[in-house]
Amino acid sequence: MSEYDLQKKLLQLSKIGIALTSSNDLNELLEQIVREARNFTSSDAGSLYIKSGKFLRFVVSQNDTLANNSKDNKEDNLFKSKVMPITEESLAGYIAATGQVLNIEDAYHIPSDKPFQFNRSFDQKTGYRTKSMLLVPMKDTEDNIIGVLQLINFMDEARNIVSFDDSDQEMIMSLASQAAVAIKNAMLTQQLKEAHYDTIFRLSVAAEYRDKDTARHIKRMSNYSAVIAQGIGLGKDAVELLLYSSPMHDVGKIGIPDAILLKPGRLTSQERGIMETHSEIGADILANSNSQVLQASEIIALSHHEKFDGTGYPNGLKGEEIPLYGRITALADVYDALASKRCYKDAMPMEKVLFIIKKDSGTHFDPDLVKVFFDNLEELQTIGEKYLEMPEPHQEPSSDTVIR
Ligand code: C2E
Ligand code: SIN
Ligand code: SIN
Ligand code: FE
Repeated sequence: MSEYDLQKKLLQLSKIGIALTSSNDLNELLEQIVREARNFTSSDAGSLYIKSGKFLRFVVSQNDTLANNSKDNKEDNLFKSKVMPITEESLAGYIAATGQVLNIEDAYHIPSDKPFQFNRSFDQKTGYRTKSMLLVPMKDTEDNIIGVLQLINFMDEARNIVSFDDSDQEMIMSLASQAAVAIKNAMLTQQLKEAHYDTIFRLSVAAEYRDKDTARHIKRMSNYSAVIAQGIGLGKDAVELLLYSSPMHDVGKIGIPDAILLKPGRLTSQERGIMETHSEIGADILANSNSQVLQASEIIALSHHEKFDGTGYPNGLKGEEIPLYGRITALADVYDALASKRCYKDAMPMEKVLFIIKKDSGTHFDPDLVKVFFDNLEELQTIGEKYLEMPEPHQEPSSDTVIR
């Protein structure tokens, strides 16, 4: 490699490193690592394994030849999510167990004195011919192996399969350690996000704990909100922010006396007035936070009882004066409230619920959102079924609430 080529490669490598550290969606990051590594080495295929205890999980598989040869790219996912024990008998297992690098000229002609052999089952299922391979461990800054990066079939300019050369090997090792750091960070970010959401969710439930079905109401309501947000074309981050911020919409109910909140019958107008302060109490509780999620929660707490025609509370905002998140959560909240039993009312049959939502489109609700609501009704109802009022014993709905 000439000095110039080497510099170009090093520059490319550092650019990849920066790109990797700026990604915090774990799945996207894993795909990106394999894509960049393949690009960098001109490899036809590549995969990535993540170490999980004594096992390797096969998480990414990319293959240009197979992708070009099949329309529905099923092979691509054939082996995905497979888990295999870490032993020295498999190539990736050997890397994970020893931390060595393997640069193999032909996977089908590995000397028999080696502890490992190439597993041909993928090739047999797909008709692919794996030949040259480069496998490197992904080590974090403390030298822990967190996974294995595997590149397959290095192509020269005429698209002949040739062997990986040593300078590539060095640089891929460097790329792999940058990837390892990025993966660790993304995993940490994901764990923090999950912990954050879990905390928000539990605090929301605690705030309304006097009402037994609150936990499931909050799950349904926040997931309905996310579906509507997705339906109007909000981006992934905005949808996720809404999913995480809407559970807090009624925290202000913590400031409402039991005699009113739990009253089995209709509220008097004075009681109603007190009840309506829950919007502002909630906003006060959530005010002045640096957290993006809590800032969104504050907006939602304050505005989820505004109505599109200006007759809602606490500020009588009209139309698009009402923050979008407030308009979305208003619809999701009422949809769930109508269909559920409350201390003061029975659940309505679904027909009646849908009738009211249609009738109140443009008065209570933003008509554009109501349209999206009906376009996505099936998905909304699936969520409703997932978080039913009273689940069978031992069939608590799972805690994974993030829609993908
Ligand atoms: P919630 O029970 O979660 O109800 C949320 C919103 O759903 C209500 O906001 C209302 O817009 C809608 N909603 C609920 N049930 C019905 C219904 O049967 N028909 C129609 N058309 N809409 C319904 P709203 O009215 O501002 O109430 C806010 C909160 O105040 C309610 O939250 C509930 O906790 C409480 N609340 C409202 N009315 C009564 C009542 O008569 N008795 C008691 N004990 N609490 C009430
Ligand atoms: C409403 O209908 O606006 C509130 C719910 C109720 O009072 O039944
Ligand atoms: C109801 O509360 O039963 C119906 C109210 C409405 O039509 O808005
Ligand atoms: Fe409310």
